[in-house]
Amino acid sequence: MLKDQFKRFLRNVATSQTVTRSGLGPLIAGLAVKITTMSARRDQVLAIIGQGYVGLPLAMAAVEAGWSVIGVDNLEAKVAQINSGISPVEDISNAQLQRAITDGAYMATTDFSSVSQASVITICVPTPLDEKREPDITLLRDAARAIAQFVSNETLIVSESTSYPGTLREVIIPLVNSNKSTSSSKIYFATAPERVNPGDSKWNQKNTPRLVGAIDKQSQAKALAFYESICDAVVLVTSPEVAEAAKLLENTFRLVNIALINEFTQLCSAGGINVNEVIDAASSKPYGFMPFRPGVGVGGHCIPVDPLYLTWWARQIGGHAQFVENATAINHAMPRYVAERAISMVEPSIMKPKILILGVAYKPGVSDVRETPVSKLRDFLNLKGAEIAWYDPLVLIWDGSEPVDIEWDCDLAILATRQPGMNLERLIARGIPILDCTNSMTSLEGVVSL
Ligand SMILES: NC(=O)c1ccc[n+]([C@@H]2O[C@H](COP(=O)([O-])OP(=O)(O)OC[C@H]3O[C@@H](n4cnc5c(N)ncnc54)[C@H](O)[C@@H]3O)[C@@H](O)[C@H]2O)c1
Repeated sequence: MLKDQFKRFLRNVATSQTVTRSGLGPLIAGLAVKITTMSARRDQVLAIIGQGYVGLPLAMAAVEAGWSVIGVDNLEAKVAQINSGISPVEDISNAQLQRAITDGAYMATTDFSSVSQASVITICVPTPLDEKREPDITLLRDAARAIAQFVSNETLIVSESTSYPGTLREVIIPLVNSNKSTSSSKIYFATAPERVNPGDSKWNQKNTPRLVGAIDKQSQAKALAFYESICDAVVLVTSPEVAEAAKLLENTFRLVNIALINEFTQLCSAGGINVNEVIDAASSKPYGFMPFRPGVGVGGHCIPVDPLYLTWWARQIGGHAQFVENATAINHAMPRYVAERAISMVEPSIMKPKILILGVAYKPGVSDVRETPVSKLRDFLNLKGAEIAWYDPLVLIWDGSEPVDIEWDCDLAILATRQPGMNLERLIARGIPILDCTNSMTSLEGVVSL
């Protein structure tokens, strides 16, 4: 059904016709608007594989820049949601998404054959860890294989997914080349690791400089032209491997600095010093220092994951990223430390303390709970015999459980992630002690900072 609608969308692209939205079936007909004229030129059609935190914002940035965008995702429910005008990511509003759809500049699909219409294909699929906490690039391989047979001649394929150096050259290119049609004799390849920071109101796809590493001069020229059309600044590097390694360095830099400050926090606490005051003091140095703040640990799809791509890659080339491994271990131990600090704040006579966790997403402003360190915090608190409930205005369900009201009767609250719009005044007024892991509640009665 959707497939037919999408074919019509592409026919519309190809013939520059105006068609009414009612011709597109019940999902998008609900918007009661029309698809307007679009250019037929393949050189203005972009296909993006994966419509998540990276792919959908890229799609909208490309639409803004004048591209016609096909968003390919293998999750049917997600495609249906997107095409009905409901954005699955916080950084893209329903209004922006609906405008792109109604302008006829964007549509999502599960149909990989649609990539044949595109002159540029970007791959934005997840690159998680496997059960051994080693790189799992299965989805990246699947995506490369799935597009290969439909790629038209003279197409640029760019991987935006984060991965270890060599992924483009040793994995993606061989997969595409061995599965593509013989008529697609010339395909260009580049890596342009995405740097998007979900929930960031300042830095976005347009104003964040984009790293590009390509396999040859022609690919580099094509990739430069593409990214210059959507970004203010493109930084060319000499190979895909440099771009891939730079992305791992960026996120590992954050990981090790967070680990340093988490370790330092434990020392300051033991020594009776307020760590946040120390960080503020050190930040007055105008050069050579960058403030990082302590927290429950690290979470999300990037900071806890990407450095393990680096440690794995180090082992493959006969090295050992010891410093990074230590940092990972320190951050992993942080939820236990926070649980112990929390329990120490509860009256010893309370045998089964009721503890409310405030904010379970891995960072403020997002509903993303992937790799959230709050899961481990909850588990340690449970092990210590506490009864746990949670509240997060952006998260509807977490590990199969539902949130409670902020009024939940508790002995202690732990502010793990300060979500926008989280009103904690009533909690303070009720005299509930709070362990603040976010440095956002300074000098308040009953509030203790990490
Ligand atoms: N989320 C971030 O903040 C961020 C920032 C920079 C880089 N990255 C990197 O970007 C990549 C994508 O991350 P994300 O956060 O957008 O993931 P996501 O889970 O939000 O979105 C990925 C989408 O890809 C789809 N998908 C998975 N396999 C597919 C396949 N084979 N074919 C088509 N669609 C497929 C999924 O259904 C999902 O909708 C990862 O490598 C990640 O490390 C993420």
